[in-house]
Amino acid sequence: MEPTQYIWKDGELIGWDDATVHVLSHGLHYGTGAFEGIRVYETDRGPAVFRPTEHMERLARSCRALSIPVDWTADELANAAKELFAANGLRSGYIRPIVFYGVGSMDLNPSGVEVHTFIACFGFGPYLGEDGVENGITVTVSSWRRITHEALMPNAKITGGYVNSVLAIQEAVRGGYDEAIMLNADGFVAEGSGENLFVVRDGAVTTPPLATGVLEGVTRSTVMTLLEEDGHPVDQHQVTRTDLYYADEIFLTGTAAEVTPVREVDDHPVGEGKPGRITRLAQERFMAAVTGRDERHADWLEYV
Ligand SMILES: Cc1ncc(COP(=O)(O)O)c(C=O)c1O
Repeated sequence: MEPTQYIWKDGELIGWDDATVHVLSHGLHYGTGAFEGIRVYETDRGPAVFRPTEHMERLARSCRALSIPVDWTADELANAAKELFAANGLRSGYIRPIVFYGVGSMDLNPSGVEVHTFIACFGFGPYLGEDGVENGITVTVSSWRRITHEALMPNAKITGGYVNSVLAIQEAVRGGYDEAIMLNADGFVAEGSGENLFVVRDGAVTTPPLATGVLEGVTRSTVMTLLEEDGHPVDQHQVTRTDLYYADEIFLTGTAAEVTPVREVDDHPVGEGKPGRITRLAQERFMAAVTGRDERHADWLEYV
């Protein structure tokens, strides 16, 4: 990661090296924070932030789920992110907002502890590699189950919940795979460690419903809209491990991963072992939307 000049902290721009936190921050010890990831794309009209308000609204929901009081509205944070990006002079990249409980008490109950909001940004290439986007990645079904609705909040982007994703990706990479797919506690397919999942079989596109315990992905909803417009409505129903092995196509979606094809699951080739027609269509439509080439979705972009 290349440092940039500024980071936004609680309403002001500070230097990259000054964006530090106290070692006794509640969020550091207990994972009591919420965060977002937002991409900024280079377009003919300059850098454009993709759906920043939707991301900041999800941040507000995640904070509400964990009773973190936030001093800023979603619109204010979206504007702050744009100003920060402009101040850093990047043409494209990634924005990382985070809200967390700071220093004040080591009690588990954080009520009354100070809350901080930071926004950072930096340059960022394809998360699962250029080759992954072009030719597809390999995945394995993780031995780790996705966090459940009973124990945590899989639909909220809570920092502490990401230990689950870290365990899954570490195991997958140690096994020689690019990414992990997690099942939920009932054995149904949930998602990747940091991506939602889509399966195509006989032309029908399916993604696990939110009740399965997946994050309510902004890219997931974007791709659902785009595919529906092209005559491929996406059905939300349970996906089994066998469905992964029977699939003609599988792809992952996420702000970091964008639309990444899967070419192998547990060493089984997916379809013909290369990205299929609907995956390519989703990639093309997505890239057109995020780079301002799709007039129908001009409102998804906010220019810096
Ligand atoms: C666990 C998980 N699922 C799915 C996603 C994809 O969500 P989005 O498309 O909003 O980035 C992410 C990334 O934020 C994630 O961390």
